[in-house]
Amino acid sequence: MDRYLEQNIKDIISKYPGVGDILNEYKIGCTACAAGTCRLKDIVEIHNLPGPEEEKLMGRIALAISPEGGLRVPKSSRKAAAPSGGLKYSPPLKRLVDEHALIKRLLALIPRFVAGVDLGSEEGAGLARGGLKFIRAYADRYHHAKEEEILFKYFDAELDVIKAMLRDHVNGRAHVKAAEEALAAKDGAAAAEHFLAYRELLTEHIKKEDEILYPWMDRNLSLKQVGELFNKFNEADEKFEPALIAECEAVVTGLEKLLGAAGISVKA
Ligand SMILES: [Fe+2]
Ligand SMILES: [Fe+2]
Repeated sequence: MDRYLEQNIKDIISKYPGVGDILNEYKIGCTACAAGTCRLKDIVEIHNLPGPEEEKLMGRIALAISPEGGLRVPKSSRKAAAPSGGLKYSPPLKRLVDEHALIKRLLALIPRFVAGVDLGSEEGAGLARGGLKFIRAYADRYHHAKEEEILFKYFDAELDVIKAMLRDHVNGRAHVKAAEEALAAKDGAAAAEHFLAYRELLTEHIKKEDEILYPWMDRNLSLKQVGELFNKFNEADEKFEPALIAECEAVVTGLEKLLGAAGISVKA
């Protein structure tokens, strides 16, 4: 089994499609991942399954690769069970999760926004630009900057998981730019398309960070590094205008009210 643990997951799945089905059952979405360059052993490590669960998963993968049962399944050294009562984060990572909450409130509004607002009109484009301002200031300059310039620097830049997260940020920026250009061209349909694509991309991205990446990072950061991160996040936040944060929060609250007032439920 050891040689398969070192292999790229996409190669394993293309040769043994049953492995992809097994990973999907465990909600490990390698079949849908565009990169798919992680090694099997990294995938098992990053998802932090409790030891017996990990051994069961590896046993099934071994059988999918070699149905005659010729592969020896390694014993898991993992003691930790998945935490009960929700995920627990260190204070700096908890702060990023809290920032995700505000971003998710905006993302939740996008389908109703594009369905209920004429993005080709001046008024509609003005509202949409408010949303773009929030994305650029809060999601990108405030939140993604802390990830890219501080948090991710604590990990190997060559890790696939870090590269995949950075690629999502880049693709998100491309949708924002394209949406802005579409608004300028009064092309409401194209703007709507990019808003919806951004929503889909960032919703998945945040889910991966909250449920997989940040817990894995927390498991790999020392106490000293957690303290450093906390201080560096404070310094980064201090450089950000408090009025701008308040303005960003007001954009989301304002849009929630507006869509509610238009007779569209604000609750997802
Ligand atoms: Fe991110
Ligand atoms: Fe994030």
